[in-house]
Amino acid sequence: MPGSFTLLPQPRSTEVGQGSFTFTEDLAITGPREWAAVVRRLLAPGTGLDLPGRDDGALRLHRDESLPDEGYRLEVTGDGIDVRAGDHRGLNWAVQTLRQLLPAAVYRPAPVGAQWQVPAVTITDAPRFAWRGLMLDVGRHFMPLADLYSFIDLLAMHKYNVFHLHLSEDQGWRMESKSHPRLHEVGSTRHQTRRPGAEDGDGTPHGGYYTQDQLRSLVSYAAQRGIEIVPELDFPGHVRAVLAAYPELSNNPGEGHTVADTFGIFDEVLNLSDEAMEFVFSVFTELLDVFPSRYIHAGGDEAPRTEWLASRAAAELAERRGLPDASHLQNWFTRQVRDWLAERGRVLVGWDEINDEGHLDGAVTMAWRGAGYGVEAARAGGEVVMVPTSHLYLDYYQSNDPDEPYSIGGHLPVEKVYAFDPLEGVPPEHSEKILGTQANVWTEYIPTMRRAQYHLFPRACAHAEVAWSDPAGRTWDEFTPRLIGHLERLDAVGVNYRPLGGLQPWQRGGTGAFERPAAHLGDADGQVGE
Ligand code: ACM
Repeated sequence: MPGSFTLLPQPRSTEVGQGSFTFTEDLAITGPREWAAVVRRLLAPGTGLDLPGRDDGALRLHRDESLPDEGYRLEVTGDGIDVRAGDHRGLNWAVQTLRQLLPAAVYRPAPVGAQWQVPAVTITDAPRFAWRGLMLDVGRHFMPLADLYSFIDLLAMHKYNVFHLHLSEDQGWRMESKSHPRLHEVGSTRHQTRRPGAEDGDGTPHGGYYTQDQLRSLVSYAAQRGIEIVPELDFPGHVRAVLAAYPELSNNPGEGHTVADTFGIFDEVLNLSDEAMEFVFSVFTELLDVFPSRYIHAGGDEAPRTEWLASRAAAELAERRGLPDASHLQNWFTRQVRDWLAERGRVLVGWDEINDEGHLDGAVTMAWRGAGYGVEAARAGGEVVMVPTSHLYLDYYQSNDPDEPYSIGGHLPVEKVYAFDPLEGVPPEHSEKILGTQANVWTEYIPTMRRAQYHLFPRACAHAEVAWSDPAGRTWDEFTPRLIGHLERLDAVGVNYRPLGGLQPWQRGGTGAFERPAAHLGDADGQVGE
């Protein structure tokens, strides 16, 4: 493959031809109307071309159901471009690749004048994994809706097909609820933000939520671009915002409950009474009405047993439900939600703690504490998405430069992300259980999308290739020039990425109130709970 092709992620096969094809003012599209709309959406703004539909267009779109899921074939010759795809997502990825064959100016929202010439080439491509995700935590810091749209555009550029939207946290509940309006009225706002252990916070309220119609529109926008939004409501832990709104769901309802103003793992968990279960099913009913995804994330991480074990009511519940003791309430809870979702044609996804009392059948395990949890779940016959802290927590530090912005800990340079193999340690007979991989952006110390972009890029460029491309024939040394070429595209969009050579002057330093304490940098594999 010649150095001038800076395709990222690397396609399965690239055969360079002779000559090139140049776009003319009257370039037209031949193919199904709804497919032409996909092409126009991705090519018209930057080129300034109308790209009308016509029978004799030089940009020809063909439905080819013999191609694998999300696969495509792109053939550029001197007299036109033929795109073959089996489905709407394959078409999206084909056009994303076509954009990478054009000058980076095609990524601008309006034309600046460039020659739209594409080298002759035949590319045959399909993803290695069906689940290629990024998770964004909008609980710790609310991100304005407009930021989520631009986030989706960046996912699509990198052929990610899952946007895992983490919608509830101790520090904020982010979805409008018609059945339980205090969730968004009360649970969406904390009165200030405070560093763990500090007495004083910033004295500034923080919050926000998305209306159901805003989220429906976001779902459609993502789907048009080949992306499914997998929503998460995190239960039974990480619920302080819920308890601030509905204290009767707490194990200690008499205590004053507030939306958390600092970060960490809190003892507060849902009391899992019949009333709490009614509440959970009621908000999941609303969630399913907004999000059509097959997979629904129900959380399950970091739920201490402290409150249940101290509670007479929890002990009685456990006994009534035939459990050995109250520490098994989470396992009981997850089974109820799994079955309830299955009755509605959906599949539960949970953080790997869902298997702590034994493997939970019929659920997808999101292995975050280590890839080993994923290997174990796959061996037990379950489906898995690999998201280990060791390689894929993009909120961790990108380098040991003391000027790095304050982060939660850990050390995760882009080379290490690139080196991740989701199938490492997975016995070949279980490898089909690994649905794919996802990188996570937790936002305790990431208050804005601008800062999230800094943490995401270029590490997500590396992860996108891990998720899409076969490992054979690619190496970090071979990837680096492609990545450098790809950064020109991020420049065209205006993404606040971290340059490979080190931080920009304006990227240095802490996060407002969060100055870095001495020796805060984590070691290479340090796991930091979130
Ligand atoms: C997690 O990082 N608590 C899933």
